Parts: sequence; C-alpha cells; structure tokens
Amino acid sequence: MNVILIGGGGREHVIAKYISKNPKVENLYALPGNGGISKFAECVKISAEDIDGIVKFAKDNAIDFAIVAPDDPLALGAVDKLEEIGVKCFGPSQKAAEIESSKIFAKELMTKYNIPTAKYKIFSKIDEALSYIAVSDCPIVIKADGLAKGKGVTVAENFKQAREAVMSCMKDKTFGKSGERILIEECLSGPEVTVLAFTDGKTLIPMVSSMDHKRAYDGNKGPNTGGMGVAAPNFYYTDAIADECMKKIFLPSVNALNAEGRTFKGCLYFGLMLTKDGPKVIEYNCRFGDPEAEAVLPLLESDLFEIMLAVREERLSELEIKFKNAASCCVVVASSGYPASYLTGYEIDFGDAEKIPGVEVFHAGTKREGEKFFTSGGRVLAVTAVAEDFAQAREKAYEAVKLINFEGARYRTDIGG
Ligand code: AMP
Ligand code: GLY
Repeated sequence: MNVILIGGGGREHVIAKYISKNPKVENLYALPGNGGISKFAECVKISAEDIDGIVKFAKDNAIDFAIVAPDDPLALGAVDKLEEIGVKCFGPSQKAAEIESSKIFAKELMTKYNIPTAKYKIFSKIDEALSYIAVSDCPIVIKADGLAKGKGVTVAENFKQAREAVMSCMKDKTFGKSGERILIEECLSGPEVTVLAFTDGKTLIPMVSSMDHKRAYDGNKGPNTGGMGVAAPNFYYTDAIADECMKKIFLPSVNALNAEGRTFKGCLYFGLMLTKDGPKVIEYNCRFGDPEAEAVLPLLESDLFEIMLAVREERLSELEIKFKNAASCCVVVASSGYPASYLTGYEIDFGDAEKIPGVEVFHAGTKREGEKFFTSGGRVLAVTAVAEDFAQAREKAYEAVKLINFEGARYRTDIGG
C-alpha cells in the first residue's frame, strides 16, 4: 500500500517507526516529516495544514491510506477531503474532530449526555465575562474556545490573572477567532491522567494510561508547554478507576458522538482529572497526544498499522489488542528558551544513547543533512525507555538523555518523580 502520514513531530516519528514494520506499508511518505522520520519515510515538503497540497499529493501518488495525526489538519477537514477522493484514513472527520477544536462544543456535549466535567459558563462579551469573574472565587480557569497551540488555557490564581486572560482572548485577540468565545470553568484538583483510546465508533479500546508533564520546569513550575515528558502507566489510574471511566466517560462519549451524527474513528484522547468526586473530563483531543504517543505506543505489542486499518473499516471488535506488561518513561529534550523563543540549527550529538537496550530516541523538532541531525524546533527529542517497571524505565531514559548533547539542550529531571 502507498501510505501518507501527516505531521512532523515526535508523535509522527513513533507512528512512522511502528507502521513501517508492517509489510503492507510498501511506500510511506511523511508530509512534512522531520529528520528522524526520514529514516522510515520519504519526507515531502508539504505542510500538515496545506490540505489542498496534501490532497493533490495523494492523487498524484496513488495513495491508498492516510494517517492524519495532528489537530490542525483534522480540524481543517483533511480526512473528509481525502476520503472524498477515495483515500482511506485513520483519523476523525471534521465534524467529529470538533470535540477538540471547539471546547464549547465538547462541554455542551458532555452536559447533554451527563459526562462528568467541570462546571462552566460560556461568554462572548468581555463585560459579561469580567462581571462574572468579579463575583467568582479563585482559582478559576479561563479557556479560549478554539485551537490555540496548547496555550489557550489559563488557571488563574487571582482576579488580576483571570482578568488578563479574558482581555488577552477577547480584546487583544491573542488567539484570533479561537478566543472570540471563551469558557470560564470551575477549577478542579487531583491527579491528571491521559487515556488514549482506539475507536471505530462501535468499539473502544483504551491504551495504557499515562501522565503528561505540561509545565516547563521541575516541580511543575513555569509556563505550560506541549508536554515535557510522560510516565506510563499512570500510577494513579487503578483498575477500579479504569472501569468507572469506561462506564461513565469513554463509552458515553463514543455514544454521544454517534447520537449527534459525528461518529468518531481514530484515536480519542481523554484528558482526565481524578477529583474527590470521581474522574472528570478536563479535555478531549481528537488524536494521539504528543508526547503521550511516544510513551504509550512503545508499550503496544500488537501491530499498529493493522489496528489503524481495522479502525477505518469498523472491525476493531475483531482484534485482540495487546500491551506489554511493562512501563515507559519519556523525557523531552527541548531547546533553551522553549516554550518562549529559542534558537535552532544546532548539531545534535546522540552519543551512544540509542544503544541502551529498551531506549528509543524520537525526533520532535530536527532536520537531517546527510547523516547529521540539527535542531529545528522547541521540543527537539523525546527519549523513551521501556523496562519491567517504571523505576528502571526512568533510570534508563535519564541515562540516555545525559549522553545526548546539543547547544542549549534542556529537560526536566523529575518525569514520573
Ligand atoms: P488543556 O490545554 O485543556 O490541556 O489544559 C491545560 C491544563 O490546564 C490541563 O492539563 C490542566 O492542568 C489545566 N486545567 C484545564 N482545565 C482545568 C480545570 N477545570 N481545573 C483545573 N485545571 C484545569
Ligand atoms: N500532550 C498534550 C497533547 O498532546 O495535547
């Protein structure tokens, strides 16, 4: 089969590596891919957001199957447009992807179908939003409705921060149209869990749970990032909680999307908080998390491409999906300055990191020149180690990270700590 993989981060690197093990994948192209992905796929200079360019490439190259991994092309309807020209896709339609691209849609869906989540109010007028926060208790959470590259959420500790967040969304239009409407939410507390699940709209199979570390610095300090590291499985996610989530959150979410005529096929991401009143949904994403995918997919024993085909063809119930009885630790190595501005173009020295058994180095922001690799993004590498238990996985991941060098390389030292 001729296959295209849309995207160019660490998540796409792990997907490329695992699907290329399947002999059905004869020709794999990544649009645009990155340095690491180029070891498994031919990288083509077409942006993940250039939907017309992607569709033209698929037509010109007789593509049979597409994996649309990032949120932006899913929100722009890449799957609908590729399916229209006969390309089968792993990933949700534009209507189903709205579960991520509109937080207001997701909230209204949860309310309608009794799926536990934080209490909220929707605002489209600055004055009304400001009057509401003036009489609310802090902390309080302000969220831009639309996609905002992971930066649209503020957990405001006091009225001043809440006011600034409202002004930034609605007056300064920091997130453009995404911030025209906002949500103001009750602030929940408790451990956070990510559960990624394969679903074809009929069956839902959760993957191993995980814990992302969103803040930039040790001790969960500093600004939010796309994710600085992951521990999997998540220590807090017991079997009893998993059962409760299946009954009260996962299956009701799939059923709700079906009932709304927005059947979801692909990977549904549940961002959960385990509150004292039970698990609640913080957010849905319509795709694999990044870096969660780099920690969770290495624990998958079954063939990823077969699962993706089964999801598309609605035969997920026929598969037995197995995970290793092991743990993984993923540490992101970032450019100095990330998530604010940073410099790129530094050569990466991997040392012998990749020779450590159980260690895989995924490229998030690199470019390749011959056999050399250079930094090209904020998050540069996602270094994952798999071992029998988490303590060993963590030790190996850090052993590998310490062997890697590039100018300004920075990482958190407390992933899963
Ligand atoms: P998001 O961009 O939706 O993933 O949100 C970023 C982070 O903000 C989450 O991982 C949580 O840590 C935090 N957050 C979002 N909503 C809430 C909430 N209602 N209560 C407490 N924390 C929240
Ligand atoms: N790591 C969080 C996300 O992928 O949205």
